[in-house]
Amino acid sequence: MNNVLSRTTRRHFRGKIRRLFSEKSASRTERYPIDDILASELERTTEAVSFVLPEQMCEDFMDEGFVFIRDGKIYAYKNKCVHVTLPLDLDDSDFFSEEKDVLVCKAHGATYAPTTGVCLSGPPKCKGRRLARLRVEREGDELVLVSHH
Ligand code: FES
Repeated sequence: MNNVLSRTTRRHFRGKIRRLFSEKSASRTERYPIDDILASELERTTEAVSFVLPEQMCEDFMDEGFVFIRDGKIYAYKNKCVHVTLPLDLDDSDFFSEEKDVLVCKAHGATYAPTTGVCLSGPPKCKGRRLARLRVEREGDELVLVSHH
């Protein structure tokens, strides 16, 4: 009995390790240049700029991200509220509050911390949740979206 159990356990872990290994070896990094937004232009504004996500990164019909710079650091998120499947800006490309200190969802007014994406206020289903972060890097004056598959 002991032998059977340990063989089953061994098989279980062998399968798990194999799956982990194949997932790891299958993962790869893709880099997508973001057209039409230059890093030097982004540095000169307190606004965020939206861009279309590559097809591989689109879920449902939410196919946009937005990017901005704060204190020299690049931040980017999916243009999607955590509350309902709606774009934060409701397609008007205005992501920040008037004071430019928080990101605002135009649908029901949830606010998000720009540097963490954490929801600070809004409907109960939003509070404490986070916007989906995107990794955007600078290559000279170009911006590149980095994705791990
Ligand atoms: S859809 Fe964003 S706060 Fe409700």
